[in-house]
Amino acid sequence: MTLVQDIQSRAGTAPVKVGLILGSGLGHIADTIEGTAIDYADLPDFPHAGVSGHNPKLVIGDLEGCRVAVLGGRAHYYEKGDANAMRLPLETLKALGAEQILLTNAAGSFRKDIPPGNLMLISDHINFSGRNPLIGEPSDARFVNMTDAYDKSIRHDLAEVAASLDIPLKSGVYAWYSGPSFETPAEIRAIHTLGADAVGMSTVPEVILCRFLGLKVAAISTITNMAAGMSDEVLSHEHTKAMAPVGATKLENILRHYLKGLA
Ligand code: HPA
Repeated sequence: MTLVQDIQSRAGTAPVKVGLILGSGLGHIADTIEGTAIDYADLPDFPHAGVSGHNPKLVIGDLEGCRVAVLGGRAHYYEKGDANAMRLPLETLKALGAEQILLTNAAGSFRKDIPPGNLMLISDHINFSGRNPLIGEPSDARFVNMTDAYDKSIRHDLAEVAASLDIPLKSGVYAWYSGPSFETPAEIRAIHTLGADAVGMSTVPEVILCRFLGLKVAAISTITNMAAGMSDEVLSHEHTKAMAPVGATKLENILRHYLKGLA
């Protein structure tokens, strides 16, 4: 039995419409879905996703009338130095029928008008890590077009939903910095000068993989802090986990209404 057949034997074969990946401090959203939950540990070759604040299970079920497959946690490049770590999970979401992937993450903001507790809709990214999940991919499909990688129509719909809920959702450019150490203030000044609005340690390799796999993708950051050197906060993972739930409530609200619109 293949991995996908195994999952479908537990969760049913009805195709899912949307795949969701939950970032740091957001994993609990997976627990609000009524459906079938499978621990990553029971999915052969799935990455470990062992970062605290993540919820490493695949949940398939209905959210606001839309059939979804939710990954409650992700594997990051910084865990094992593998930028391709999320390839199997994304291939699995595609094989389960997902047409679009919504990514979420926690990020540090450079923008005073997008302070901690707020959300940022990612419009584009800067791959500041120099890593790419498609290094070693032999096919010509590796030359992925990354213009409008963040799907314009999904972004438009998410922005409309946020506006209808009176939730501020400014757009901005996300820079991927490898982590796991936080950035230095000088690094933040550098990426800010280059055009980024927020920084984080994930998402970018997944967006590249989604485009490679022909999946539409959009992403929203929960801003947990001002980036290094921009405030007196001492950055830590504890701080990220403590702050993520503030934005998570808004994020969950937007996601639910967006999915309702798709159903
Ligand atoms: N930098 C990198 N990753 C992050 C940050 C940050 O400031 N905040 C939350 N995730």
